[in-house]
Amino acid sequence: MKILAIETSCDETAISIIESKGKIKSPKFTILSNIVSSQVAIHKEFGGVVPNLAEREHQKSLVPILITALKQAKLFKKKKYALKKENAALRNILSREQELLKQMKEVFPLEVPLIDRIAVTHGPGLEPALWVGINFAKALSHLWNIPIVPMNHMEGHIFTALIKEDGKNAKKFSIEKTRFPIVALLVSGGHTEIVLMKNIGKYTIIGETIDDAAGEAFDKVAKMLNLGYPGGPAISKLADSGDASAIPFPRPMIKKDSYDFSFSGLKTAVLYYLRDHTSYKKRDVAASFQQAVVDVLTAKTMRALKAHKAKILALGGGVAANTLLRKTLQDTLLRGAKLLLPKISLTGDNALMIAVASYFKKKPTPAKMITARGNTKISD
Ligand code: KG4
Ligand code: ZN
Repeated sequence: MKILAIETSCDETAISIIESKGKIKSPKFTILSNIVSSQVAIHKEFGGVVPNLAEREHQKSLVPILITALKQAKLFKKKKYALKKENAALRNILSREQELLKQMKEVFPLEVPLIDRIAVTHGPGLEPALWVGINFAKALSHLWNIPIVPMNHMEGHIFTALIKEDGKNAKKFSIEKTRFPIVALLVSGGHTEIVLMKNIGKYTIIGETIDDAAGEAFDKVAKMLNLGYPGGPAISKLADSGDASAIPFPRPMIKKDSYDFSFSGLKTAVLYYLRDHTSYKKRDVAASFQQAVVDVLTAKTMRALKAHKAKILALGGGVAANTLLRKTLQDTLLRGAKLLLPKISLTGDNALMIAVASYFKKKPTPAKMITARGNTKISD
């Protein structure tokens, strides 16, 4: 089976094509293409993602990325004639995406590629951005008569940890054979949640942030320290040379029984610290802040593992790139338990994770029923 996946939930425009072979329950995958085009340079000057700009950029990037992806997968072939009725349908599907429509008209018609399903992120994320990917999927589905599987973005992040690379060939991988339940710590710019995964497709959110996401806290503190956007990598780099015990920032809700998080108070504590001190070392602030975030994430996650008698911990989301978090989780894990970490290059948003997760979905959804769901949960 070949899957084409599209991801446009935030500020990365991504397309991936994968092929699965072998047994249905324990497939071997090959990456035929995995392209991520980041809009960071565009959003940087605004200090965060601007939804309308993201929507515009996705429209500009999708067609060129699709062409490259099809070429890499050896599935690209121009067709000679377009059908008039196809064009009319496209105008209808892409009535709100004029730029995307224009670009599609320039390169289509294309021969129908040998693809069995189109997976597209339908949420959570920024709705204007999600819609571009969804309508693009609908347009392709219509032109090529290929079914669509709408996917949850957070489920995709979990799968980045479950990918087990073939030692010899970086393009080949299988899925970790694990015992369930798995506890997944998902930490990104928009979400922070602890998910209990009872099986593939069976998720319960057992804890989540009640205010800011962990990545968001990194981004906001980076802004206070004038480190630019996105803040996670910058803080983490600066923290390397700082003293993590220099400033006793609060560990919000660390003692609370629930698995919920709160990072807004920590952010404010950093703000007050900077306001009330005339001289401080930025690297110590960065290191102390990072340590506070990692301490809370680790404490709650370990407690969740124990309470649910889970032996496997999976980490996912943009903040999963954080070295201290990866190391601390590994060091704190009880004997007999196993930590599954995503490859750093797959921690940020990408379409490969959407493709892999979609493999396990049984049925496609009729295009008419697919809508952007900005706030959908992995448990929905
Ligand atoms: O998953 P992601 O790429 O996008 C969302 O779905 O939100 O996550 C992006 C977030 C940003 O907030 C970014 O600052 C954070 O991940 N991030 C990091 C690191 N690299 C990226 N946070 C901490 N340490 C890092 N090394
Ligand atoms: Zn994400």
